[in-house]
Amino acid sequence: MSKYKVDKEWNENKAFDANEGATHPPRYPREFLVKVLSNSSYSGLKPQTNLKEKRVLEIGAFGANNLRFLYEKGYKHIYAIEITESLVKMCRKCSKDFKLSQIDENNIVLGSNLDIPFEDEFFDLIISIGTIHYSVGDDIEELNLWKSKLRENGRTYLETTGPSHDFYLDSQRISENKWIWGEKSGFRKGKLCGFFDSEEHWGKTLREVFNTVSTGRVIEKSEFLTIDSLTAICEK
Ligand SMILES: C[S@@+](CC[C@H](N)C(=O)[O-])C[C@H]1O[C@@H](n2cnc3c(N)ncnc32)[C@H](O)[C@@H]1O
Repeated sequence: MSKYKVDKEWNENKAFDANEGATHPPRYPREFLVKVLSNSSYSGLKPQTNLKEKRVLEIGAFGANNLRFLYEKGYKHIYAIEITESLVKMCRKCSKDFKLSQIDENNIVLGSNLDIPFEDEFFDLIISIGTIHYSVGDDIEELNLWKSKLRENGRTYLETTGPSHDFYLDSQRISENKWIWGEKSGFRKGKLCGFFDSEEHWGKTLREVFNTVSTGRVIEKSEFLTIDSLTAICEK
């Protein structure tokens, strides 16, 4: 039992309410992750080599969609954490949906942003897409924890909600790194989260921890929805 508090309302049914339009966890990886890991012109970093020897972790791996991409890309030592038993089960089940995948389901375990149950300097790559803003408090401490789990020259790929995202605009800022989710965010409404104030705030925070940081931003718009993601790839 972890000493860190996580939101126990995250489960397969709540996260996937057909009334909200989603009937299944995404089966496709985050497109910008694919691009950044596949092409140096997005990151300024040479792609990692000898991938089958490398260890990769996804924090908040949900429907295993990014795990599937990592597997197909060549990583074979794939690990993941999810915050509730229900989501660990869902992630394991989803990882089996992908025909090519031989991801070891024993590597998909309970954990959170602040509770990464693996030894220090274990991973070559850590992925966090849409999870860092679920922690409220000291981002530097949290990023230093993630850094401690990376081997020398290990990397982390990150995405968080950006300032023109519908959910961001709908939320309320209390103080730095302390916001309240708004009406549009479903079961999260009224709970605390930790958005970043701006692209500058995001980059400055990451540069306090990592040696090399390359930030980015992806804005996706439809008539119904704006998704704004602050992104980064960092090296230890
Ligand atoms: C928007 S989903 C993103 C899922 C996946 N990373 C993707 O790219 O499709 C948010 C994820 O954050 C996870 N999450 C929520 N609170 C968390 C926390 N305190 N620590 C780590 N992950 C958390 C949820 O379980 C969920 O998997």
